Amino acid sequence: MEKTFIMLKPDAVQRGLVGQIIGRFEAKGCKLVGMKLMNVDKALAEHHYAEHKGKGFFEPTVAYITSSPVVAMVWEGKNVVTIARELMGATNPASANPGSIRGSFGMDISRNVIHGSDSVASAEREIALYFKQEELCDYRKAGEEWLND
Ligand code: TYD
Ligand code: MG
Repeated sequence: MEKTFIMLKPDAVQRGLVGQIIGRFEAKGCKLVGMKLMNVDKALAEHHYAEHKGKGFFEPTVAYITSSPVVAMVWEGKNVVTIARELMGATNPASANPGSIRGSFGMDISRNVIHGSDSVASAEREIALYFKQEELCDYRKAGEEWLND
């Protein structure tokens, strides 16, 4: 089953939005298979955002992500990478759909509340950066038969 890496960024934790955001993934039907509150160090943040190295927002984004704890999660489900990106909304909360997570909870691109993998390949890379295989739970969840045929 497809998996995606989701991070609730430091602003989400500091602003007390963790429960509400996790609730949206649960309500949608995504299945939580990994989760931890953690500090991201500079080396990990630089690996995570390696594709953006050299861009003007790279250093500020690394500083933001390492400034305070984050909630790192792995969610599972059919097409969950795309579904999670839709739930999150556009990168810039100022123009994100108001029903999306970034559209509901953010004001500025530099504090956009949440990260989600942009492809299955990115998800595999990012899950491996943040989680050991044994930290992910493989289990059957009640009601799964009502989400897909
Ligand atoms: P990006 O991968 O383009 O967005 P997304 O998180 O939606 O995949 O950029 C990574 C993060 O970098 C983004 O979440 C916020 C930050 N960022 C800025 O601060 N300014 C910018 O202009 C861009 C493009 C991103
Ligand atoms: Mg991205």
